[in-house]
Amino acid sequence: MKIKKMLFTVIAASMLMLTACGSSSSTAESSKSAASEVSGSSAAETDKTETQAAESAAPETSVSDSSKTPESNTDNSSSSKDTIVVYFSATGTTKGVAEKIAEVTGGDIYEIVPQEKYTAEDLNWHDDKSRTTIEMNDTGARPKINGELPDLSGYKTVYIGYPIWWGDAPRIMSTFVESVKLDGKTVIPFCTSGSSPIGNSGKNLEKQAGQGSWLSGGRLDGGISKEKLTEWIDGIK
Ligand SMILES: Cc1cc2nc3c(=O)[nH]c(=O)nc-3n(C[C@H](O)[C@H](O)[C@H](O)COP(=O)(O)O)c2cc1C
Repeated sequence: MKIKKMLFTVIAASMLMLTACGSSSSTAESSKSAASEVSGSSAAETDKTETQAAESAAPETSVSDSSKTPESNTDNSSSSKDTIVVYFSATGTTKGVAEKIAEVTGGDIYEIVPQEKYTAEDLNWHDDKSRTTIEMNDTGARPKINGELPDLSGYKTVYIGYPIWWGDAPRIMSTFVESVKLDGKTVIPFCTSGSSPIGNSGKNLEKQAGQGSWLSGGRLDGGISKEKLTEWIDGIK
């Protein structure tokens, strides 16, 4: 976790630099201004201290409506569509991207809603004892999902989206991929983040799922346009 912490510190410091350049005012906004639409830029150039990074990133975490609301995730029981976009979003950034993918692909959408929703305190990544820190320190953590899981049997393509937490997918994504049947499906992981690329997060989920044909996917900017998204989707097919 030390390496991850250092990595995230560097990333957070990079986010500070972006903020200092006047490019954003929130964590979610930071992802909008990250260097690349598809894969995040390396943040290794900076030498900001952890304290500076924490100060810049800490107050920016907010819990979006998406973490407060849906009790049921989607009703796709009678869908004839061949694509579904599944996502988890704690503060709304990934949700926005997932909705655009569903629009561009004409697919269904399913939100992974945690049984115990994440509060702002839970999302405080520079608190060693926060729920997310504890979960991400434990590769075996499997937070429960609220509501019914989607029936994926009718879909050929499954997009799976999430925010990057500590360089990886949130553990609830592991809960999801271990609970559904992905065999015979093309699975496309995508993430949003402050600046981290998708890294090994998709590969880790692929291992946990143990089924499906996983593409490498990528990081998408929170503010990506539909045109850029269409280009990205066309490029990964
Ligand atoms: C606990 C936690 C850990 C995070 N770790 C990283 C990270 O390692 N790298 C990064 O670039 N951003 C990191 N972020 C920022 C989120 O990935 C980013 O804000 C994301 O777009 C949020 O998506 P959401 O609004 O869909 O939840 C972290 C955020 C939280 C709350």
